Amino acid sequence: MWFDVFAVRMIVELLLFGALLVGVYFLLHMTVLKLPRCTAATKLHGKTVIVTGANTGIGKTTAIDLARRGARVILACRDKGRGEAAVQEIIQETGNKQVIFMQLDLASLKSVRSFVDNFLKSEPRLDILINNAGVANGGKTEDGFGMMFGVNHLGHFLLTVLLLDQLKESGPSRVVTVASKAHEMGKVDFNCLMTHRDLVPGNSDYEIFQGYCHSKLCNVLFTYELAKRLEGTEVTCYSLHPGFIKTELGRHATSWWNVLLNTVSLFSVDAESGAQTTLHCALEQGIEHLSGHYFTCCAPVLKINPKARDDAVAKKLWELSESFCGLS
Ligand SMILES: NC(=O)c1ccc[n+]([C@@H]2O[C@H](COP(=O)([O-])OP(=O)(O)OC[C@H]3O[C@@H](n4cnc5c(N)ncnc54)[C@H](OP(=O)(O)O)[C@@H]3O)[C@@H](O)[C@H]2O)c1
Repeated sequence: MWFDVFAVRMIVELLLFGALLVGVYFLLHMTVLKLPRCTAATKLHGKTVIVTGANTGIGKTTAIDLARRGARVILACRDKGRGEAAVQEIIQETGNKQVIFMQLDLASLKSVRSFVDNFLKSEPRLDILINNAGVANGGKTEDGFGMMFGVNHLGHFLLTVLLLDQLKESGPSRVVTVASKAHEMGKVDFNCLMTHRDLVPGNSDYEIFQGYCHSKLCNVLFTYELAKRLEGTEVTCYSLHPGFIKTELGRHATSWWNVLLNTVSLFSVDAESGAQTTLHCALEQGIEHLSGHYFTCCAPVLKINPKARDDAVAKKLWELSESFCGLS
């Protein structure tokens, strides 16, 4: 009999402990993990926006918000089926029929050029370019660059440079690049870039992790250098960390990378929350003087890691990227 009472007491205590853990988890999500929302009321009727990687994750929720505001939204995606499915979904959800798929594979410089040709032939203006697409896996691009360097940085570099004239003509206009807090662990090794056409020499799990961080530092440095080159124009640019967001980013990840991403995902929030800082950078009025800055939680990060503000590295990365893209 005393055993039954003890067992019941144990079960009740375990249930209470479990309920406490679930409660703390939800409380964390409602407080510390809750991300601020973009408060800009900006409408976008008559404006054209490109969002790369807009068929899923943060890119898709960003595109939905921009479509709700009346913009003509170009979903620049690599997969026709996934891109067109997202177009239908966004049109249905927002009622805005000006949502269009255009094929863009950032892992191919030829594809970037042909996307820009198609875009310039059919679209008379560009008001906001959102460099959102990203990968966190190894491999090589069509042109032999490391996949993360090629997609996260180089493809977006070429895309932006080729669209600059259109952005200038449509000014005031903006370029928003989705980087990551992971940039703080990154570095740009030019010897490695020259030897391997990649930011890391190999494809081990740890090198993939490092390569992701390095590519995200490239995003922040690219934006910093771009702002300098855009001084005196009506085009401004921003980079950002979206928060830790539940998306498909880890879909190709292997072993411990996956364990890490799954653990982080316990403390991540939904893709709609993940779009808020992108939207803030794209839409908030009065942040133009912060061009080149890195944002998170809908605010500029004023005490940024010095390596993300290294003028010499930013300039060298720009020049090397130009040469890799055949622009110089
Ligand atoms: N999730 C996070 O916690 C987090 C944190 C910090 C920063 N970020 C950054 O946020 C951005 C969006 O990522 P996400 O989390 O939303 O990931 P996601 O759900 O995996 O979405 C990534 C998007 O990029 C596209 N993409 C991949 N390779 C491409 C290529 N070669 N050409 C064109 N598009 C390509 C994907 O297309 P497919 O569907 O065809 O693969 C997909 O649409 C990335 O830059 C990522 O680095 C995310």
